Amino acid sequence: MSEPNPPPTRVTLDRALSKLGLTSRKQAQLAIQEQRVKVNGRMIDSPGKWVTLGVDRIVVDGAVAKPAEKVYLALHKPRGLVTTRSDEQGRRTVYECLGDFGSWVFPVGRLDRDTSGLLLFTNDTDWSENITAPEKKLEKEYLAKVEGHVGDEALHTLRAGVYLDDGTITLPAKVRIDRQVEKSTWLSIIIVEGKYRQVRRMCEGVGHPVTQLIRLRIGTLVLGKLASGVIRKLTPEEVEKLVPGTTPVAAPRVAVSPKASPPSPGREGGSTRHREAGSALRQTPPAPKPRPTMKSGAGRRRPRRSR
Ligand code: URA
Repeated sequence: MSEPNPPPTRVTLDRALSKLGLTSRKQAQLAIQEQRVKVNGRMIDSPGKWVTLGVDRIVVDGAVAKPAEKVYLALHKPRGLVTTRSDEQGRRTVYECLGDFGSWVFPVGRLDRDTSGLLLFTNDTDWSENITAPEKKLEKEYLAKVEGHVGDEALHTLRAGVYLDDGTITLPAKVRIDRQVEKSTWLSIIIVEGKYRQVRRMCEGVGHPVTQLIRLRIGTLVLGKLASGVIRKLTPEEVEKLVPGTTPVAAPRVAVSPKASPPSPGREGGSTRHREAGSALRQTPPAPKPRPTMKSGAGRRRPRRSR
């Protein structure tokens, strides 16, 4: 017996396009303002217009907006790349690692420029939100090389909660010494939050600045032997295990009804072509650019910029 369809979702037009996995909200807003998007045959210029997924007929650049195939990727992010699609300072970005996965995907959370390790990408906003939502308290495991030998008091504070410079205190963390090397210590740190540069600020807060940071695990998913700079597709089992209830191989959960109001004459009207919207909205990653050095940001508040 087939699963019953979920109730229709009512969202703003920009969110609808991003929920369909076609583009980011920012790009959707742009496309709407450029009058490239019609709803039920009428050109819409307000990203805030409410639409019902699965009921309203959304057309972008003359093509019916259909849910894009869901994509779930794991990257071993190398150091030196910022987690953003395009960087206003011209720094190299993680998108140069995406290669053939050039369709629209966005990072699930972020890693600092100087942090390496496991970074996920998807075009499934619900899945992403389930991973990053603070209330889900999903474990993130890091290996941090810090300056000096870490004593019992610092370990206790890291575990119990560190007061950060913005007045907040971190939630209890699992912290243990992995190994000592000369004048440094490798710490295994498992946190359930995602504050800006949290691990660096925690270690800085107990007097042991981080000199190297690697993310080894997000929830049930480990970095494993994935080589630096390499991206791979997650298996359906991995996707489902990370966020139970996700069915990545099933048919799309939202469908844009072809029976809503008839298309207006024009590019999409009466067309026998079944081109799907999305390709025009997706962007190829920007070419690598020269890289200036970045200041240490440990202990700072999160500014509105890429890490
Ligand atoms: N904590 C940090 O300090 N940096 C990261 O990139 C992730 C967690």
